[in-house]
Amino acid sequence: MRKKITIIGAGNVGATVALWAAVNELGDIVLFNRTPGLAKGKALDLKSASPIGGFDLAIVGTDRYEDTKDSDVVVVTAGLSRKPGMSRDELLDMNAALVRDICAQAAKYSPDSILIVVSNPVDAMVHVAYKASGFPKSRVMGMAGILDSSRFRTFIGLELGVSVEDISALVLGGHGDFMVPLPQHASVNGIPLTDLLSEDRINALIERTRHGGAEILSLEKVSSAFYAPAAAVDQMIEAIVRDKKRVLPCVTYLQGEYGIDGIFMGVPVLLGAGGVERVFELKLSQAELTALQKSAEAVRTLVAQVRF
Ligand code: 2OP
Repeated sequence: MRKKITIIGAGNVGATVALWAAVNELGDIVLFNRTPGLAKGKALDLKSASPIGGFDLAIVGTDRYEDTKDSDVVVVTAGLSRKPGMSRDELLDMNAALVRDICAQAAKYSPDSILIVVSNPVDAMVHVAYKASGFPKSRVMGMAGILDSSRFRTFIGLELGVSVEDISALVLGGHGDFMVPLPQHASVNGIPLTDLLSEDRINALIERTRHGGAEILSLEKVSSAFYAPAAAVDQMIEAIVRDKKRVLPCVTYLQGEYGIDGIFMGVPVLLGAGGVERVFELKLSQAELTALQKSAEAVRTLVAQVRF
C-alpha cells in the first residue's frame, strides 16, 4: 500500500517537491492549491511525465481539502515568499494566518499525518502548525537545516574542488541570519575541514551559507530558491515514508536540549515513520552553544509576535 503525500501549495517549491517525490516514487501525491486549476494542471503535467520517468503513482491536483484525506505526510509550502531585500521574518503575519488555517484543515482530514512545514519564517511557522494542528511535537517539523547544511557542503566542495558526496557538514539553529554552521563538525571523508581550510576561508563560507537564500533571491529578483529546498523536503519525506531512521537537522521542538526550551528550531533529529523519534544533543563549544542560544532568542522574539 503506497503512502499518501499531500503538498499544500503548487508554487515552485511545492511543485518541485512533487517532482522529487514522484521521481523517487515515495508515494501517491496530492498537490493542493487554492487557485482552481493550478494544482490540477501541474499534477497532470507531472503525471504525463510518468511514462518517461517510470514512476507509477497516483498524482492528483486539487483545490479541495477533502481530496487530501488520510494523508501520511502533509507538506506545507504555501505562503508568500520574500522579495529582494526582505528578511524571512517580514513574512510572519501574512504566512502565520495561512499556515494556521492550512494545518487546521490538515488535522481535520489527516489526523494521523506528519506535518513538514516549509513556509517562512519557518521556525515560527512550525510553532503555528503545532498549535493549529494539536499534533504531538514528534509529528510537526520544519525543513531548514538540511537545506542550509547542503549549501554549506556545496560551498565547501566548490572551495576545495572535491566531491560533495565526501563532505559532511551541519548547520543548526534558526533558519535566518543567526543560523549556526558547525565547522568543527565538518569533514571531507573524515579529514577535518579545519585541516583543509584557513579560518578566514571557513568564515567566508559560513557567511555565504548564512545568506545562501538571499544570494539566489538577489540574482533571480522574482523568485526564491526552490530546487534545493524541495530536495531537502524530499529527503525528509523519504526518511518518514521509508522509516529510514535518518539523522538530519530539522526544525523540532526543544525541551531543554542545548539549554533551550519551548521553541521550534533546527537541531539533529532521528527521522523515521514516527516523525521526530529522537533529538540529538551534540557536545558544542561554549562559543557554538552561545551562538545557538542567540539564534534561539531570535526565534523566540519572532514567535512572541505571532497571534496563534
Ligand atoms: C531559502 O533559504 C526559501 O528559506 C528558503 O532559500
